[in-house]
Amino acid sequence: MTTPVLEPPATAHKAAPTLPPTTHKPKPYSGPSADEVLALRKQFVNPGVFLYYKKPIMPVEGKMQYVWDDTGKRYLDGLGGIVTISVGHCHPHVVEAARRQNETLQHSTTIYLHPNLAEYARNLAAKMPGDLKVCYFVNSGSEANDLALLMARAYTGNYDVIALRNAYHGGNAATMGATAHSTWKFNVPQTFGVHHAIAADPYRGPFGRNDPEAGKKYAADVKQLIDFATSGNVAGFIAESIQGVGGVIVFPDGYLKHVYEHVRAAGGVCIADEVQAGFGRTGTHFWGFETQCVIPDIVTMAKGIGNGCPLAAVVTTPQIASVLAKRIHFNTFGGNPVVCAMGKAVLEVIEREKLQDNALAQGAHVLAGLEKLKTRHSLIGDVRGKGLMLGIELVKDRTTKEPAKAECAQVLEAAREMGLLLGKGGLHGNTIRFAPPMCITRADADFMLEVFDAAFAAI
Ligand SMILES: Cc1ncc(COP(=O)(O)O)c(C=O)c1O
Repeated sequence: MTTPVLEPPATAHKAAPTLPPTTHKPKPYSGPSADEVLALRKQFVNPGVFLYYKKPIMPVEGKMQYVWDDTGKRYLDGLGGIVTISVGHCHPHVVEAARRQNETLQHSTTIYLHPNLAEYARNLAAKMPGDLKVCYFVNSGSEANDLALLMARAYTGNYDVIALRNAYHGGNAATMGATAHSTWKFNVPQTFGVHHAIAADPYRGPFGRNDPEAGKKYAADVKQLIDFATSGNVAGFIAESIQGVGGVIVFPDGYLKHVYEHVRAAGGVCIADEVQAGFGRTGTHFWGFETQCVIPDIVTMAKGIGNGCPLAAVVTTPQIASVLAKRIHFNTFGGNPVVCAMGKAVLEVIEREKLQDNALAQGAHVLAGLEKLKTRHSLIGDVRGKGLMLGIELVKDRTTKEPAKAECAQVLEAAREMGLLLGKGGLHGNTIRFAPPMCITRADADFMLEVFDAAFAAI
């Protein structure tokens, strides 16, 4: 591979990027400072939690795509609380739905009837294709994937599960097994029956981005695993429709279609983890799996489903659900009246405010801008993603693709100084992730690109 010829840097001495204006005036903050909170965390909070930034940031107020920290500084929230703020911080329709329900009945559990759970299940099922019409409510993505794995095993009577390397499916016992990043795996027994196929990563994988057969070739590894590592019968296959924590890996066309064929031929069911890619974020489709032209047997969702409240769901077919009815399924908070009211409001906002269309338009604009930046900054090895789920992989050298981990952290620090919050992902933490609330404007998208340009130029 030849070393790319880079275009000259953009005009020097440009004015620092300025955040687009907002009419929202944050309330004066009078609580403890970030330093005081940090001291409390160090003394009383589990030491395994990690913080971004050398000097940790403490957002204390949010409105739509912006947050304000304890000093009153405003930021464009380019990560949305890790791909969770789907329709905007404190969206008035969602806040109002929560307020109304909070003042009426906060909790009842599924042993009693409540209209919110039933109506929300109907509305959610209406967004699903095919026979995916039965909803289960839980509180987190990990719980949703745990339940999906149980369903696959109970329904098929098989045990082995195929997951993908570079996947993140959660941190509880079952989902840590499906997750495939050493970063998140404790050295305890956790992967019984889970086999990890190679990630279909067009940038780093063995089959190039331009190979029209790449999807089929990556899928062949799943077939190999079934043939060599299992009895030939599997419970199922689980994959994120776009790998998020793994650094926004978009599978080649046709990949899931071929995988699903192999898995179903081995008696397994197919689980799509839509925790990050769902709810219109990819822009072209409401669900990430639709970008791969497949219909799963089980779909798990969390994060953006509730715009920040602890709501998660599993949706499956009546046939699979009937097997789980052999035992009682109970989850104290799952489908709580308040979170169901919020989930219902989130669906309404996505539709009314055409947020999927906005994700498509702003995402395409940012991606095109990033492609241009790539011609100027050699640190950018790859830009990728769909809609408002975008990744920028940084490398020290475009030929060796050596991960530029420290530089990635520097870009995040520089962007934060300029008022942009970003995420990072990938095993080496060298991929910048941009997954803002889907209500961002063109001006926000341009601001993001200006910040990037300046941050890269500074390194
Ligand atoms: C794709 C995916 N699945 C599952 C999970 C686990 O969700 P939770 O943290 O709500 O348990 C995550 C969390 O980041 C995720 O990104």
